[in-house]
Amino acid sequence: MLKVKITFSAFLLLTVSFSFAQNTLVLHSSQAKTKINKEIYGHFSEHLGTCIYEGIYVGEDSDIPNIDGYRIDVVEAFKELKVPVLRWPGGCFADTYHWKDGIGPKEERPSIVNVHWGGVTEDNSFGTHEFLDFCELIDTEPYLSINVGSGTVQEAAEWVEYVTSSNESPMTELRKENGREDPWDVKFWGIGNENWGCGGEMTPEYYANVYRNFACYVKGNDLQRVICGPSGGDKNWTEKIMAGLKGKMHLTQGVSLHYYTLPTGSWSGSKGSSIDFGEEMYFKTLYNTLFIKDYINDHLEIMDQYDPEGKVKLIVDEWGTWYDKLPGTKDGFLQQQNTLRDALVAGINLNIFNNHADRISMANIAQIVNVLQSVILTKGAQMVKTPTYHVFKMYNVHQDATLIPLEIESEEYEFNGQAIPALTASASKKDGITSITLTNANPNKALKVDCVLDTDLKLAGAQIITAENISDYNDFGKDELVSIKKFNVAKPKNGKLSVELPSKSVVLVQLQ
Ligand code: AHR
Repeated sequence: MLKVKITFSAFLLLTVSFSFAQNTLVLHSSQAKTKINKEIYGHFSEHLGTCIYEGIYVGEDSDIPNIDGYRIDVVEAFKELKVPVLRWPGGCFADTYHWKDGIGPKEERPSIVNVHWGGVTEDNSFGTHEFLDFCELIDTEPYLSINVGSGTVQEAAEWVEYVTSSNESPMTELRKENGREDPWDVKFWGIGNENWGCGGEMTPEYYANVYRNFACYVKGNDLQRVICGPSGGDKNWTEKIMAGLKGKMHLTQGVSLHYYTLPTGSWSGSKGSSIDFGEEMYFKTLYNTLFIKDYINDHLEIMDQYDPEGKVKLIVDEWGTWYDKLPGTKDGFLQQQNTLRDALVAGINLNIFNNHADRISMANIAQIVNVLQSVILTKGAQMVKTPTYHVFKMYNVHQDATLIPLEIESEEYEFNGQAIPALTASASKKDGITSITLTNANPNKALKVDCVLDTDLKLAGAQIITAENISDYNDFGKDELVSIKKFNVAKPKNGKLSVELPSKSVVLVQLQ
């Protein structure tokens, strides 16, 4: 975009000056004080499709190489990714889950039907012990989701006792009988999931009271309780649950937010294909994903009215893209591919979360394997790392780093009369290294970005994720089309760093 400015001097000489659309980042390192919680890089695993069974757990007798039933390739990939927190067992599945069905000898565990996801029979062979031991294996914090929709307060209180207590009690005895002497360290507990929908079709006023009842018995040292918050832009839900907690704000440490990016922006009809799309669907996906920024600000504004000190955090415990299921896959299994478009979605969302690190304490992409915007896909003994995996890996430099406040000016990426900012970015510092992550949404044009630095820094390195086409993805048995590559950036000069972001790219630049 070209802006022309015309001025007349005192001598009536005509001066014409041109100013081009600028992409500028101004970093305020001296104001850096907020920690980016590593849990912002969290994940979500549900008993849905092949996420748990096949994706994580194949059983000890499987031909697929495993350790205690967990597939080794997936364990190694998660360790490399540094998964900081994992939510389980759902999702809507959690709203019908009774944890006692999933403990004790496997052959004695009752089966249930997974009514929300494909009507398949769940044999409960992956339960509390299997999940928490898995978290220890991959060195991640567990985040358990309590059944409020069809569960009881007693059941919830007993689960907390069973898992976290070192008292002498019937629940801890039961845990020991089942082979676990010491309690697990489980800090994060979600009290209810989507209670406005699959979690009981409740009104916010009713749910707030139910929540208070449950929260009163879900107790322990340093335990963080999360109240079921809104879906997308539902401000009424946030308003009513916060009002329902008035005078009892200590009962919650977090409000959840769920927002899925649908290319069409609508739950009815086709949501669009995960692989077979052109620029129109690409643009719409990125356009819709950016709504999350407004939703975050809107819900925080309401929360601030009831919690002016900002003690209660926002926890985006379900986010990511949701497309039509892949042809030939089962209904209710939510299997989709993951392309460069998803890498852009991940990079944009993670930049937004980082920039809200003062109030967002956790986020969990849906879901970790084989469901929705996964970081890993499996097929039999094969496994691929998706473009989203590579973005998480690249952005890991921000885990527990200190956020550097930024001012961003971006040109627009226009399509069919609508526009979004082409550039998003976030920056942090840790161990003497400043890391800047940037996304260029425009699939047709490189962006020249000027970064203004407020300290004297040298280039430490740069990486890029891009591909030839917006719909490129990593397929089983083939070379990766989308992965992290080294990227060349000119050295900073006089406190200014110039980066040319190729079209449709996600970039990390590091300085020291
Ligand atoms: O992630 C898939 C589903 O989306 C979850 O089970 C539910 O909580 C949400 O509607």
